[in-house]
Amino acid sequence: MNQSIQARYTFAQQLAREAGELAHRYFQNLDQIVVESKGTQDEVSIADRETEVFIRARIAEAFPDDGILGEEGGDDRDGKSIIWVIDPIDGTACFVNNMFSWCVSIAVAVDGVPTIGAVYDPNAKELFHAMRGGVAYVNDKLVNVKDVADFKGGVLGVGFSHRSKPEEFTPFMHTLLSSGGMFIRNGSGALMLCYVAAGRLIGYYEPHINSWDCLAAIAIVEAAGGQCNNFLADDGMSRGNPILAAGKPLYPLLLRATGKNVK
Ligand code: IPD
Ligand code: CA
Ligand code: CA
Repeated sequence: MNQSIQARYTFAQQLAREAGELAHRYFQNLDQIVVESKGTQDEVSIADRETEVFIRARIAEAFPDDGILGEEGGDDRDGKSIIWVIDPIDGTACFVNNMFSWCVSIAVAVDGVPTIGAVYDPNAKELFHAMRGGVAYVNDKLVNVKDVADFKGGVLGVGFSHRSKPEEFTPFMHTLLSSGGMFIRNGSGALMLCYVAAGRLIGYYEPHINSWDCLAAIAIVEAAGGQCNNFLADDGMSRGNPILAAGKPLYPLLLRATGKNVK
């Protein structure tokens, strides 16, 4: 089993790079791309769709017995134990508005555990990657979370979508700011979570996120020594859940600041 997981890890890294370069070619010709709305502040383009088609075809060819769940192409899990969870472009609002914080996110869950993560940012040429039980990297450089004791120790990433209600989020922001903390939202949850793994941000909170946005990054944060909530509890794979990530000393404070009973 371990050998076959290692093979998927190597493949996921290569695939994230190739898919990222494909999406980047669309990004360089943005003026020719039609953007469609899927909901409030939720857009999609041919770049998202075609990148997911590419990723799915490559996985189906290399690992035909694995399941796939993707943001644009749907749910082909079929009770499989090894599931690829993919977001072809995380940070679409940035992508379609010609900003640089977007990435390709590819995860593998094995028996319901986030096991492999490969997140590629083609603008920065950074591949964040890890396999459960191992260490985390950006390209070939080892990374670790930054362990701080409180919110004053650095900048926290936050995210919000209209899947949540504002009143679920604003009390958290009040607590963060009144504790001397500071926030950033760059439009890509996957990238900000990887920045937690790389010690650039001290943590991340979003009241609801989908599995394709965060599963790869969860594997990377955990391999980098950080702590995340049990995202796949209560069918988080299909329904999404809150996401919390931080170094271990900060995690209890972050959890308290959300005011929620997160598993
Ligand atoms: C979104 C981004 C955003 C987060 C949202 C996601 P998308 O994904 O990760 O940062 O706040 O919850 O839906 O739509 O750009 O793939
Ligand atoms: Ca996403
Ligand atoms: Ca997406």
